[in-house]
Amino acid sequence: MNTNTQRYWDTTADEYQRQTRISCTDFHYGPLLPGDGLLQLLPWDVAGMACLELGAGAAQNSLYLASRGAACTAVDISERQLEVGRTLAGELGLEIELVQGDLEALPFQRHAAFDLIHSVYALPFVDDQEAVIRTAATLLTPGGVLLLSTAHPLANAEWLAVDDDETGIFLQDYFVPPVDARVGESEGLPEGGVSACCPAPLSHVFKWLRDAGLEVLDFLEPEPLAVENPDEHPGKGVPYDSPEWRERFEELARIPVVAIFRARKPEQA
Ligand SMILES: C[S@@+](CC[C@H](N)C(=O)[O-])C[C@H]1O[C@@H](n2cnc3c(N)ncnc32)[C@H](O)[C@@H]1O
Repeated sequence: MNTNTQRYWDTTADEYQRQTRISCTDFHYGPLLPGDGLLQLLPWDVAGMACLELGAGAAQNSLYLASRGAACTAVDISERQLEVGRTLAGELGLEIELVQGDLEALPFQRHAAFDLIHSVYALPFVDDQEAVIRTAATLLTPGGVLLLSTAHPLANAEWLAVDDDETGIFLQDYFVPPVDARVGESEGLPEGGVSACCPAPLSHVFKWLRDAGLEVLDFLEPEPLAVENPDEHPGKGVPYDSPEWRERFEELARIPVVAIFRARKPEQA
């Protein structure tokens, strides 16, 4: 178990969930991005499907799928994030299985057990991302789908003003993008843990999916949706929203922050 990562997310979970509006009535893919209501990458009917969420946070995506009749399991390293998920599930009257675990040592013996595995902005926090994809592939049923939204390497670039009216990004090395390292801080709590976000080059992710025996069906670099008067319609326009991300709208509109892969395990391996 990566205790440093766990401590970071346990320390910051409450603030993260307070500052971010994450909907349970649509499936989110990333900050200010259209949800699945618009992108339509999820299977049309998830009722009865066994679903697994990796790096779930408070598991809002699992709660959305559960509200549509799926049987959902959500894994996260942070007990505090899961605690928020447990409260949300109680408020919504939904049942999901919340499991504390490290994506690098998933606590499942069940092979070919899940029809849908999904993950949003969690993979880049893991050291061996390829191994997580390999394990996910073994956990999928034949015909099952992996829906992966991961950090884009450009998201870790630095914004610079080159001229009075010209700004752009600086990325020294796409293939070894800078690590976004953060120390856990939250009001009233001592510093706790470190999170390191290391997006992988997208061709590597594509290769890992193929090497794990999956067929890549879709690849998206979605653009954010302009949300007008978000305070009047909290959580309605985009399913993942926060004042901080809205301040960065102009940046998000110029470079992709996440890349989404949809991959399927063949019926016959
Ligand atoms: C940016 S948050 C995203 C959470 C959620 N997917 C969402 O969209 O709100 C990243 C999550 O990954 C989890 N995480 C980071 N490293 C992990 C690991 N090695 N194993 C399991 N979860 C991990 C963190 O605890 C955190 O909840």
